[in-house]
Amino acid sequence: MKCMSDLLKGKNILIMGVRNKWSIARGIAEAAWREGANLIFTYQGDREKESLLKVTAGMGEIEAYPCDVTNDEAIDLLFSNIKEKHGVLHGLVHAIAYAKSEDLQDSFLNTSRDGFMLAMDVSCYSLVAVSRRALPLMTEGGSIVTLTYRGSVKAMQGYNVMGVAKAALEASVRYMALEMGPKNIRVNALSAGPIKTMSGKGVQNFSDILSVVEERSPLKRNVTLEDLGGTAVYLLSGLSSGLTGEVIYIDCGYNNVGL
Ligand SMILES: NC(=O)c1ccc[n+]([C@@H]2O[C@H](COP(=O)([O-])OP(=O)(O)OC[C@H]3O[C@@H](n4cnc5c(N)ncnc54)[C@H](O)[C@@H]3O)[C@@H](O)[C@H]2O)c1
Repeated sequence: MKCMSDLLKGKNILIMGVRNKWSIARGIAEAAWREGANLIFTYQGDREKESLLKVTAGMGEIEAYPCDVTNDEAIDLLFSNIKEKHGVLHGLVHAIAYAKSEDLQDSFLNTSRDGFMLAMDVSCYSLVAVSRRALPLMTEGGSIVTLTYRGSVKAMQGYNVMGVAKAALEASVRYMALEMGPKNIRVNALSAGPIKTMSGKGVQNFSDILSVVEERSPLKRNVTLEDLGGTAVYLLSGLSSGLTGEVIYIDCGYNNVGL
């Protein structure tokens, strides 16, 4: 079903990070599409492209470009394609993260230099790299949304180097908000509760985490892609026009509970 109230009608929004039907970016894309956004997608590689096309089939023919965010030339090409085709970009959703699986299993102290740099590069620096290229296209103002997790502010068993990368990501959001604000570009992070995705399942004892949140969160459940999609639409739309540099928790209230 299309169109709730056209909150994003006429807006060109770049969605980075749809891997499959479970991806948070897929939930955000669907919510934005229902609100009338004109979506542009990226995929990491050919495998992801196939699955992107499958999960977006209901949206008709989509516009999609390859972009491995560790590759500056790929990012340059992406933005030159968008510039040529659309001229203006209004929104960017960055739902990308990666850490080596051994760095999410073993002790944090054993993180290798390589593993540390890779997690920071893909999960944090990529936001800076893509936003810098988005800036000249956001001539009518814009909204940038990234995804983070509470492991940035609390030490959580097994989240390890990803928690450090998320802390750096949240700090980057504040610095970018400060620099981009004068151009009416807002930058915010959505801190999602645990949700079963391919990335989520890479975290140790993930199903235990889901059970604890379901039992102890005020709403007595875990978040859904619809919960995250709704808040992302709010962040991408004019409804949140005065909000920037924030980390918004969408976790059924779990972060507000002491025990
Ligand atoms: N699942 C959770 O519990 C949870 C909770 C809070 C935050 N998040 C964050 O949400 C975001 C989306 O993750 P998800 O849970 O939807 O998992 P996902 O595995 O569906 O999405 C991760 C995406 O990152 C992309 N990616 C990884 N390396 C890349 C690279 N080098 N270049 C381009 N793309 C690359 C993958 O292709 C994939 O599309 C991530 O930032 C994740 O940390 C997830």
